[in-house]
Amino acid sequence: MTKSALLVLISALRIVSSHPNRASPFPAAEKVPSCSHGASFSLAERIRLTDEVVERIADTHPEYADLWSFGNGEGSLIKSGECRSFPGDESWPSEDVWNNFNELLGENALIRTVPLAAVCYNSWGVYDEEKCASLREEFGDPYVHERDPTSTVWPIYQGKTCLPTDEPEGTCVLGGSPAYAVNVSTVAQVQLAVNMARNANLRLVIKNTGHCYLGKSNGAGALSVWTHNLKGITFLPEYETVGYTGPAMKVEAGATVREVYEMASRYNVTALGGICESVGYAGGYIAGGGHTPMSGLYGMAADHVMSLEVVTADGRFVTASNTSNPDLFWALRGGGGGTYGIVTSVVIRVHPQVYVTTSDYTVSTQSGEAYFEALRFFFGSFIEWGDAGTYSFFAAGRNGDTYTLSLNHFFAPNCTAEEFEELMGPWYKKLAELNISIAPTTKFYEDFYSAYDATWGSDVELNTVGSVSILPANRLFPRSSFEDEEKFDKTFAVLQDTIDSSNTIMGYHQAPGNRANVDNAVSSAFRSVIAFLIVAVFVDSDATPEELGEATRVLNDEIVAPWREVSPSSEGGGSYLNEANVMEPNWQREFYGVQYERLLEIKKAVDPMGVFYATTGVGSEEWEVRDGKSGLQTQNGRLCRL
Ligand SMILES: Cc1cc2nc3c(=O)[nH]c(=O)nc-3n(C[C@H](O)[C@H](O)[C@H](O)COP(=O)(O)OP(=O)(O)OC[C@H]3O[C@@H](n4cnc5c(N)ncnc54)[C@H](O)[C@@H]3O)c2cc1C
Ligand SMILES: *[C@@H]1O[C@H](CO)[C@@H](O)[C@H](O)[C@H]1NC(C)=O
Ligand SMILES: *[C@@H]1O[C@H](CO)[C@@H](O)[C@H](O)[C@H]1NC(C)=O
Ligand SMILES: *[C@@H]1O[C@H](CO)[C@@H](O)[C@H](O)[C@H]1NC(C)=O
Ligand SMILES: *[C@@H]1O[C@H](CO)[C@@H](O)[C@H](O)[C@H]1NC(C)=O
Ligand SMILES: *[C@@H]1O[C@H](CO)[C@@H](O)[C@H](O)[C@H]1NC(C)=O
Repeated sequence: MTKSALLVLISALRIVSSHPNRASPFPAAEKVPSCSHGASFSLAERIRLTDEVVERIADTHPEYADLWSFGNGEGSLIKSGECRSFPGDESWPSEDVWNNFNELLGENALIRTVPLAAVCYNSWGVYDEEKCASLREEFGDPYVHERDPTSTVWPIYQGKTCLPTDEPEGTCVLGGSPAYAVNVSTVAQVQLAVNMARNANLRLVIKNTGHCYLGKSNGAGALSVWTHNLKGITFLPEYETVGYTGPAMKVEAGATVREVYEMASRYNVTALGGICESVGYAGGYIAGGGHTPMSGLYGMAADHVMSLEVVTADGRFVTASNTSNPDLFWALRGGGGGTYGIVTSVVIRVHPQVYVTTSDYTVSTQSGEAYFEALRFFFGSFIEWGDAGTYSFFAAGRNGDTYTLSLNHFFAPNCTAEEFEELMGPWYKKLAELNISIAPTTKFYEDFYSAYDATWGSDVELNTVGSVSILPANRLFPRSSFEDEEKFDKTFAVLQDTIDSSNTIMGYHQAPGNRANVDNAVSSAFRSVIAFLIVAVFVDSDATPEELGEATRVLNDEIVAPWREVSPSSEGGGSYLNEANVMEPNWQREFYGVQYERLLEIKKAVDPMGVFYATTGVGSEEWEVRDGKSGLQTQNGRLCRL
């Protein structure tokens, strides 16, 4: 044996012997062998809670043994009107239990929540003028929230109970933030947290980056599983599974879209991800389907998931794939985050490098007549552009006397600059006829990552979060609303009216269809979408519940209701659950399409006790968060069964 091989062997043995200590259950884990469906388990996934470990814990700590045991798949739901245990309740775990839990987790992984902005207040004993000043500056940076165990990027849904301020005498309370977070670095820790939450009747939440637009990664009085530090990404050059052999990547739960793109680029392949670099990849993004600038070639990101590793509601660690837990596999690809289990990693199939042409410009005119004629032509081109595999993100609206349409950015994969010009020909001609001049910056890139990096990958604004003033809603418009002349007239009239009433429409043209021809839980609305449009209302940062309620009413009943009418779910319309309005009426059908019923059946089968709750998640209609009068649904209240 060579000297270096010997060194490798010695260090490997050291890992094995330090993990775990056979005689003691602390930390509560066992190391298992390393293979799953053509992809090795990650280091985190090899450290697990097993029946033997649970028995050892019972031997040393019989008084708490019941808290860590696995579920038996039965168990009963708490009764109607009953709530999850809450800090201060008699049933709330004692300090001793929390300490014991922390010891079992190891590595001081249990973190009692101190709000991110506590440094701005006297009441928490951590006041720090300088830190507070920089937090006030950086509150819009998503990575500031990602690095914090419990902070999320849209504080409205947390209840706005501890915002950065320069008035240290103000009140800062936990509000909708969880009571504790587990900083997980192993599957065993995820399992312990799930078992503890289930056995102690605690509310459980999962926070990855905290990007969720609906507040799903918050929860008052909850125990949170914080996946941010599960960062591993592995390239698998020859992954093999039923129906696919080829390059793939295994992505752990805490990796971001940017990290996935970088890794794919390093190995000369393309991975499908979204436009915002700081979004988590394997968490909410994949769970919601995941739309992508590459959708015109390949469909939705979730369509390219080959398998997932998951901790289920009973605390067990399982593989979900075509051949193992196929129902769970179906639901986890599009059926919504935080609902069926805690994903620790996904294996995605990746694609060859492809060249891309991008283009940026602003259409601007003071003539309303010319503007709407142009805009009508623009929307009217979506079917052709979508079928050509292209995607764009744009904003259309009026600012004073000037109407604008900015393309930030037009993205055309597998399109040369010449092909792109040809595709744009009629549109550019139309603008010329209307005497509207544009100055497009059109560029050709050899590969996806270069194109991404130069467009959304360098848009600082896209990555600005932390607002307490924006309430968004979105609509997936089906092809039929654009294809049929009469329907398109109606659709466009509604959109023109939206802009005429001083709203800005943001949106994407895209046509993911079902290009990979898969059967999964991605909402049926995505299969026929041609335009994904977003609109928002604005409120003061100190808006009262009444004002939030009124703004929500205007958004739903005045702005989005006419959109729904021209894109009804019965004709394939819907709303993207990942960027949605938390108060969307009929969210079951609007967010999940025709898949809702099957999803609900799967939810009841895999989580009979309702361990996983997420607002507007499948099955969440059996629960309520009692947040008092907040004007819209926040997570600042007890979770109770209806
Ligand atoms: C600025 C911005 C740009 C965006 N751009 C795009 C885009 O281009 N394309 C697109 O499709 N979407 C986009 N999104 C939406 C994004 O996909 C969702 O917000 C998504 O839910 C974020 O997931 P996360 O895991 O990062 O966030 P989190 O808020 O941490 O989690 C979101 C949800 O997923 C659950 N979850 C997280 N991790 C896990 C896990 N390991 N297992 C099970 N459940 C989990 C959480 O419980 C929660 O319900 C964007 C969002 C923002 C804020
Ligand atoms: C979380 O755990 C990781 C180890 O996995 C550690 O490096 C990090 O400092 C911890 N973070 C916090 C906030 O405790
Ligand atoms: C599932 O298996 C079938 C064959 O049984 C195959 O055609 C299909 O591509 C597989 N799907 C995935 C996502 O692996
Ligand atoms: C990268 O991939 C492309 C497309 O598959 C291929 O043409 C090219 O040769 C590869 N480059 C390298 C350095 O392997
Ligand atoms: C790219 O376009 C060419 C034709 O120009 C086509 O043959 C090829 O299949 C396309 N690639 C993808 C990934 O769609
Ligand atoms: C555009 O300008 C030309 C000449 O400047 C004029 O003849 C034409 O009517 C204008 N067209 C529109 C649609 O305004």
